[in-house]
Amino acid sequence: MYNEKVMDYFYNPRNAGELEDANAVGEVGNAQCGDIMQVFLKIEDDIIEDVSFRTFGCGAAIATSSIATEMIKGKTVDEALELSNKDVIEELGGLPPAKIHCSVLAEEAIKAAIENYKEDEGKAH
Ligand code: FES
Repeated sequence: MYNEKVMDYFYNPRNAGELEDANAVGEVGNAQCGDIMQVFLKIEDDIIEDVSFRTFGCGAAIATSSIATEMIKGKTVDEALELSNKDVIEELGGLPPAKIHCSVLAEEAIKAAIENYKEDEGKAH
């Protein structure tokens, strides 16, 4: 059902767990399955210096969010906002159709975390 790359990210998730010095957090739920995704960002001067995720989701949610964290690390917040679930699926080499909805969690949680960052920035200035 899952390709090798997806399995690798599921068994060896990169950037899993809470980020101690995060300055932005995003949390979203998946309406279809009820699963939850959290993304932690450490942003300095609009650059994503570090990123991690935590999920109460399935294997596809773990794999997609893990690779998504790698894809946005070192990027600007505006570049990270452009990341779509389609980019993530492509990077993973595909997902079974029934699991496409899981990949939306990563994209949405990243967007929520960046919004959280921008709100705080707005308050600070
Ligand atoms: Fe819920 Fe995959 S089934 S995130």
